[in-house]
Amino acid sequence: MSDIYNIRSPFIGDKVKLRALEVTDINDIMKYFNNYQTRIGLGFIIPISYKMEEDWINSTIERTKKGIGYTFVIEHKETGELIGTCGIEEIKATSRTASLGIGIHNPENFDKGYGTDATICLMKFGFRVLNLHRIELGVFHYNERAIHVYKKLGWKEVGRKREVFFVQGKYYDMIVMDILQDEFEEKYKEN
Ligand SMILES: CC(C)(COP(=O)(O)OP(=O)(O)OC[C@H]1O[C@@H](n2cnc3c(N)ncnc32)[C@H](O)[C@@H]1OP(=O)(O)O)[C@@H](O)C(=O)NCCC(=O)NCCS
Repeated sequence: MSDIYNIRSPFIGDKVKLRALEVTDINDIMKYFNNYQTRIGLGFIIPISYKMEEDWINSTIERTKKGIGYTFVIEHKETGELIGTCGIEEIKATSRTASLGIGIHNPENFDKGYGTDATICLMKFGFRVLNLHRIELGVFHYNERAIHVYKKLGWKEVGRKREVFFVQGKYYDMIVMDILQDEFEEKYKEN
């Protein structure tokens, strides 16, 4: 039998699974997505409507069909509950670069290891399935939890977009982080 059957799926982590995003996920997404704690981590100060969310889901499906972006539902490995969404977007075919985004929707689910686990799955998908060379992300400098997670997983700070986000009279910086395929493989060679 081919050894492909022995490879651990990149879509199955220790605590979560990544699965395709469906139009029918909208009610579960809207349950928590407009929570301020969640939105502000992602840089959305203005609440999102059902129609905007529906349009976003449809646009991700179109990007997936073109091979330029993939969005997944993060679901609890045991219960199947929708915990969040994540994805690899802005895929550039020649340079093999892309960007990564992630959101755990209900703040009660923060700090349970789901974000770490889902990010590792996404990195495996990006580097070992899409064969990307470099993945980038942007994280607001106040998002200390997210920065801690990315550094722990091997991401490096490579730049800063100064005063890029304005909220109620104050500007906030965005830190740009990246990771290269060989850095990922060196750190995760046992996984
Ligand atoms: C950021 C996010 C993805 C992290 O996922 P998570 O499931 O909450 O995080 P995990 O439980 O995997 O890990 C949290 C880690 O951060 C640490 N942490 C928590 N609060 C922290 C803080 N204020 N400063 C530094 N570290 C912190 C925890 O101790 C834990 O560290 P450890 O794994 O070394 O023990 C998630 O909280 C989230 O989606 N937030 C809202 C949207 C968002 O900000 N998305 C990211 C945009 S870049």
